[in-house]
Amino acid sequence: MVPVLVAIALGLLLAYIWNKTRSKLTHIPGPTGLPILGNTLEVGSSFKLICKMEEWARKYGDVFKFNIFGDEIVVVSGSAIGEVLVTKGSEFAGRPKYPWFEKLEGGETHLFMREYDPKLRFIRKLVHRGLRQYGEGVDRIESISVVEISKCLDNIEREDGADFDPFTYIHHAVSQVMNTMLTGEALSEGHPMLNKAIKLDKIDAELSTSYMLLTITDKIPLLDKMTFIPAIRKVKEYTQILDSLINFWTGFEATYDKNNMRGLYDVVYKAYLESESSEEGTKLSYTNVKYLMYELYLAGIITTNKTIYAFVHLMVTYPNIQKRIQSQIDEVVSSQRKLTTEDRHKLPLLEATIHEVLRFTSIVPMTVHKTTKDTSVGGFAIPNDTQVWPIFTSNHHNAEYFIDPLTFNPDRFLEQDGSLSPPESRKMLMPFGAGTRNCIGEVFARMRLFLFTASLLQRFTLLQPTKGKFGIIDPKSEEYLKMTPCICPSYKIRAIPRAWGIYYPKKKT
Ligand code: HEM
Repeated sequence: MVPVLVAIALGLLLAYIWNKTRSKLTHIPGPTGLPILGNTLEVGSSFKLICKMEEWARKYGDVFKFNIFGDEIVVVSGSAIGEVLVTKGSEFAGRPKYPWFEKLEGGETHLFMREYDPKLRFIRKLVHRGLRQYGEGVDRIESISVVEISKCLDNIEREDGADFDPFTYIHHAVSQVMNTMLTGEALSEGHPMLNKAIKLDKIDAELSTSYMLLTITDKIPLLDKMTFIPAIRKVKEYTQILDSLINFWTGFEATYDKNNMRGLYDVVYKAYLESESSEEGTKLSYTNVKYLMYELYLAGIITTNKTIYAFVHLMVTYPNIQKRIQSQIDEVVSSQRKLTTEDRHKLPLLEATIHEVLRFTSIVPMTVHKTTKDTSVGGFAIPNDTQVWPIFTSNHHNAEYFIDPLTFNPDRFLEQDGSLSPPESRKMLMPFGAGTRNCIGEVFARMRLFLFTASLLQRFTLLQPTKGKFGIIDPKSEEYLKMTPCICPSYKIRAIPRAWGIYYPKKKT
């Protein structure tokens, strides 16, 4: 027995020394971890990971390191985030490699988790162009969104003032806009893809709770074959839904016509057909085409629907803010016409509220980057190929940058005269990231958020349900932070058409 214990102790000591001596980051402060495991046990869930990183940031400063199962990770917050994402953007624009994620996407990463290589730069440009044509283009987004938002609001009206959960209506409207942007047409009412999108979103969120396990599957051989483990089984289920969505989109190739481009799928498919003659390194493969659609579809749905869902909750929690936004809408638009994106600058309170929803909820609390060359941050040298994780939430909820940060207060983004505060005053607000790998869909997402929330409040007054408890959103709670992107717990509300609602009793049109 004694020799075994001595052997184990010696093994652990050697592992510890081996870990220490191979550390490339001994000059960076951070928590000490266990041999081999590093800090893995302290950050075993999304909630623990975010809480621990914020705690370590308070203790060690804006740049610190920790260790997950031998991988050293540098975490940045405060002004170091701007240095990483913007000032030295391309030096930090890589992504870490997660083999389990690559397996999910046909053995290669395509956009979100792709290295910062020439093909990534080509794909970003291509998608930007496609989004400008089929998403952000003001007329286009309006014609797509207005129809889907109207359908969603009609469904809400059919609830006839009763308690209901708006989640499915919001999700369907958001995914219909994405469907139209990708293929040029919305799905028919009740199409199975609409519920598949909800399922995909749900499993994606559930998988984020198993992030640590999935990362470890890359290190422990055959772990990914153990389908009795729920997270491994979920990956299989996820892949099946993904395949059926991809089959649906590829079906559009049969009617592809380069003289009649319908949406983003056609833009990417055309680039693939034409990329035979492209420079080496930027040739698109068919696998790229298929999974790019999935990445854009998912990124466009999972973030926007959760932001709108939280917005609705917060409007019910803060009826005074809701009422002030409605008064501003009535002043500049009246209930006689539909809102357009041109009204955006006339509704600074709504714009400030959207900024505040994005800050307060921080639905994407952090991101993952990797250095592409030897560089530095906050005065610390960082070698090439080092993981660097910016934590947005530690800035968004930091009293140094936002007074009373855990209070929902859209007025913080307004000037004395009620106009929107200048962009420089919001430089610590980065819900979409920033710089070289910023969110490709930011402009499109902001337009959709504006049109949806403005149309919703123009038409309805949102109230607490008649039955059951209406909780609060606590962006620091385990319930909220257990998945990424974060989603507020399910809730019910009432939506009273304003034509006969409590604020405008005689305004029926
Ligand atoms: C409220 C809505 C959204 C939020 C809060 C959001 C947030 C983010 C964040 C924080 C990142 C990571 C930036 C980084 O790694 O430094 C990101 C990346 C990305 N987003 Fe969004 N996003 C939203 C909507 C969208 C939409 C609508 C699309 C597509 C139409 C989209 C597509 C992407 C893509 C493709 C990337 C990866 C870019 C790259 O790796 O180069 N997002 N987003």
